[in-house]
Amino acid sequence: MINRAAELIRESSNPVIFSGAGMSRESGMRTFRGEEGLWKEYSPEQLSSIAGLRENPGLVWDWYRMRLIAGENVVPHPGYHALTYLQEQKGYLPVITQNVDGLHRLAGQTDVMEIHGSMRTASCMDKCGFSAQLTAELFHTGPPVCPDCGAILRPDIVLFGEPLPPKVISRSYELAESCDLMVVIGTSVQVWPAAGIPFAALESGAAIIEINPVQTELPRGDRVISIREKAGEILPVLTGFKERT
Ligand code: APR
Repeated sequence: MINRAAELIRESSNPVIFSGAGMSRESGMRTFRGEEGLWKEYSPEQLSSIAGLRENPGLVWDWYRMRLIAGENVVPHPGYHALTYLQEQKGYLPVITQNVDGLHRLAGQTDVMEIHGSMRTASCMDKCGFSAQLTAELFHTGPPVCPDCGAILRPDIVLFGEPLPPKVISRSYELAESCDLMVVIGTSVQVWPAAGIPFAALESGAAIIEINPVQTELPRGDRVISIREKAGEILPVLTGFKERT
């Protein structure tokens, strides 16, 4: 199965990567679901929704401060570097990610669609136009406020109940419907409309390689290869990437 997957990647003429929180697990970021999932301890409605941010900005910003600090020293693991190596081999490798940690770009991938936004910046809740790089210092004394209008700032991620960025999501579906291979890495495939992207690829005739230690909602079938391995370990094998020592 591993050899077949490596062959599919080698032979693919227009592969697309689709990733979720499990892609960053071996860089030290927690996933949302599964054994140590964040949503086991915290409520997404309270912490990752517009209503929650308006009702209790202090709690929500404490949460993002915690995640930002957790993400400050996080670096891409070899699985990320393997994708950059594949991008060099293919000359082009679109990456559709649900993650907001910026690690695909940090590892050198150049065509990254962050369909759930990014934790790297914050903007004015009242949309007055202010935006800034998001660092923990910005809000060590409580929720950051807009210097221009005094409203609280919000992280530039898609909160529950908000629409995904229209251009990014439509391009993501176009890529899914035209690729010949989608490598689906570290996602429980449960949060729509993002979760529909691998299904769109499969329905359009693409082959799917799924990398996830546990089974997900993705259907089984002769065009789906499910590799029950960790992304950081198996991506270097599948792509032939060797860490430069
Ligand atoms: N390598 C590959 N996959 C892994 C690894 C690993 N080392 N460790 C865990 N996983 C898998 C888990 O088995 C799980 O299926 O990663 C998946 C992570 O699933 P979720 O935590 O649900 O993350 P994700 O699918 O990205 O969630 C989608 O939900 O809460 C929202 O906005 C949030 O973008 C997120 C969205």
